Amino acid sequence: MEEYCVSIRNVSKKFGKQQVLFNINLDIKKGEIFGLLGPSGAGKTTLVKELAGLDTPTTGENMVLGTKMPNLNVINRIGYMAQSDALYEDLSAKENLQFFASLFGLKGKEKITEFKQ
Ligand SMILES: Nc1ncnc2c1ncn2[C@@H]1O[C@H](COP(=O)(O)OP(=O)(O)OP(=O)(O)O)[C@@H](O)[C@H]1O
Ligand SMILES: [Mg+2]
Repeated sequence: MEEYCVSIRNVSKKFGKQQVLFNINLDIKKGEIFGLLGPSGAGKTTLVKELAGLDTPTTGENMVLGTKMPNLNVINRIGYMAQSDALYEDLSAKENLQFFASLFGLKGKEKITEFKQ
């Protein structure tokens, strides 16, 4: 079994002339809770988007669950919640959970059937 859920290798990212990520190397073990800290504009979202398969590095590679991203099969196996406007405020907490469960096609035990407040 692959020991790391995330392996980042020599990842850099440029938007035009602006370099945002500078040769990032990082391994995150399975089961590890990892926090990415940095001031606004440091590139946290840029890196997380690459890990979620929503963007690509300019150079280097991002491996998630042993597979180079972006990869559709891996995207189906991971979750990503953006820092803002991730939830619909018109829906209750339970309705949000049900809505996203339906988007991901969760069934049976995976689906949220009970919600304790
Ligand atoms: N699609 C894009 N096109 C051009 N520049 C971008 C793009 N996305 C991000 N940037 C720039 O890259 C830099 C890093 O942005 P990013 O959103 O990754 O920072 P962050 O660490 O998540 O900041 P915050 O703490 O405010 O969420 C910023 O200067 C931002 O303006
Ligand atoms: Mg951000």
